[in-house]
Amino acid sequence: KIVVLDFGSTYNQLLTRSIRELGVYSELHPHTVTAEEVKNMNAVGIVLSGGDKSADDAEFGIDAGIFDLGIPVLGISYGAQLIAKQFGGTLGARNEEADVQEITVESSSTLFAALDANQSVLLSKGNAVAELPTGFSAIATGSNDGAVAFANEEKRVYGVQFHPEVEQTTNGKEMLSKFVFDICKAEASWTMKSFIDIEVEKIRSQVGDRKVLCALSGGVDSSVVATLIHRAIGDQLTCIFVDHGLLRKYEVESVVETFSNKFNMNFIKVDARKRFLDKLKGVTDPEVKRKTIGNEFIYVFDEEAAKLEGIDFLAQGTIYADIIESGTATNEVIKSHHNVGGLPEDMDFELIEPLKALFKDEVRAVGAELGLPSDIVNRQPFPGPGLGVRVLGEITEAKLDIVREADWILRDEIAKVGLDREIWQYFAILPDIRSVGVRNEKRSYDYAVGIRAVHSVDGMTADWARIPWDILEKISTRITAEVEHVNRVVYDITAKPPGTIEWE
Ligand code: XMP
Repeated sequence: KIVVLDFGSTYNQLLTRSIRELGVYSELHPHTVTAEEVKNMNAVGIVLSGGDKSADDAEFGIDAGIFDLGIPVLGISYGAQLIAKQFGGTLGARNEEADVQEITVESSSTLFAALDANQSVLLSKGNAVAELPTGFSAIATGSNDGAVAFANEEKRVYGVQFHPEVEQTTNGKEMLSKFVFDICKAEASWTMKSFIDIEVEKIRSQVGDRKVLCALSGGVDSSVVATLIHRAIGDQLTCIFVDHGLLRKYEVESVVETFSNKFNMNFIKVDARKRFLDKLKGVTDPEVKRKTIGNEFIYVFDEEAAKLEGIDFLAQGTIYADIIESGTATNEVIKSHHNVGGLPEDMDFELIEPLKALFKDEVRAVGAELGLPSDIVNRQPFPGPGLGVRVLGEITEAKLDIVREADWILRDEIAKVGLDREIWQYFAILPDIRSVGVRNEKRSYDYAVGIRAVHSVDGMTADWARIPWDILEKISTRITAEVEHVNRVVYDITAKPPGTIEWE
C-alpha cells in the first residue's frame, strides 16, 4: 500500500484515488502519525501531500523518523518544501497563486523517465526552494530560477512543486505511476474483485458462527454492505428494511425483489407507513419533520431488533468520505446512520463496517461486481427522510402520492433521453401551493409541482441542469395530464448557493 500523509490539500482524496486507479491500494492518514505507525502499516511508499500552510509552521511538521524507514517518499508542493527543510535546504519567496506552467524535466530521473523534456504542470502555491539540501539535485526547472522538482535518487526521496494528481498536469498520472511502480516497486493488485475476496475472508473470521444485523435503507451503501456480508456469511445475516412510506415509486418493490427474492436473504420488511403518517400529522416545520422521521425510525428498528435473538454485530455502510469528512482516515468516527437520524445508543453490538476504505464510485463498482441491479447501484443521492423533505407543509398520503407520481414521470422522461447518467440529481417537489387553473373548460384550484435537476460533484455546490425545452415540455404536459390535482409545473433555475438542492 501507499500511505498518503495529509497536510490539508483539497486534492488529497483525488490523490489517493489516483493511486488506487493505478491498481495500488492507498490510504490517507493525518500528518501526525509516527514513524513506528507508518512502519506497521506495511507501506511500500509514502506521499506527503500539499497543503496551504507555510513550511515554517512547526505545527504542520512530520516525524523525521519517517525518512529513516528506507521507504521511498514523494513530497508534493507543501510536502516537497517539508523535505527541503527537513534535509537542510532553504526556502525562498512564496508563490501565492497556483498556475499552469511549462517546465523542463530531466528524463534521467526515474520519476520522469521516458517523458518529454517539456511538461505542462499545475505549479502549486507555497514557498520556492531556494537552496537544495546536500545530496539532492534538481530534476526539473521552471521559468523562474530554481528547482520545481528535486531528488535524492539514492535515498529514493523526491519533491515536486506541482500537483501530479490534477488534470492540468498533463502527464501527472504517468509520473505517479513511475513513483508507485518504478520507485516503490508496488504491485498492481487492488481491484474490486480482490477487495471482495479479502473482505469476505475478514468478515468470516471476525464473525465466526455469530449473527449480524443490518439496517437496509435501499440506498447504495447499505445495499452493498448487506450484499457483501451476505456473500460472506449467508443466513447468519438478517436485514431489517423499514418501509416508512416516504420512498419513491417502485423503490420498495425493487428492494424486496433484490434482497428477498434474488439474494434470498433473511429479510424483514416492516410496513410502518401508517405509524409514520400518524406521527407526522400536523407537523409542518421542516426540522421537526426530520426529527420525527428519524426518531420513529429508531423506535421501529429497535422494536424489530429486540425480537431477534443472539445478534452480536451491527453492519453499517460507513464509507471513506464519512470518515475523512470528519478529520482524516485514522480519525474513526461512527456514522450515526445520518440518513435516518441515528441508531439507538444503548444497543450492545459490535460494528462491522467493511466499506469504510472505499470511495463512493468504488462502492458502486463493488455492488455491481456482487450482482446488485443498476437501479440500486447507480441510485441518485436521496435524503434519508425521503419524500418527507419534498412535501412542504403537512405531509399527507394524498400529497405523497402526487409527488411520487410526478417524480416517476420525471425519472421516466429523463431516462428515456439518456440524461439519467448525466444529471447528478433530479426530482419532483410538492410546495404547499395551490392556484387557479383551467381544465376541460372548467376552473380548477390545484397544486403546483416543482422540478429540480442539478449538476454537482458532492452536493456542496450545484448548478441547475439545462434540460432542453422540449423535454421539459413533455414532462410538464405529462405531469399535468397524468397526475390528479396538479395544474401547474415550475422548473427551479437556482444554483446552490444561494439555494439548496432540496426544498424543505
Ligand atoms: P441540500 O438540500 O442541503 O442537499 O443542498 C445536499 C445533498 O444532500 C442530500 N440530503 C441528504 N442526504 N440525508 C442524506 O443522506 C439527509 O438527511 C439529506 N438531506 C439532504 C440532498 O438530496 C442533496 O443531494
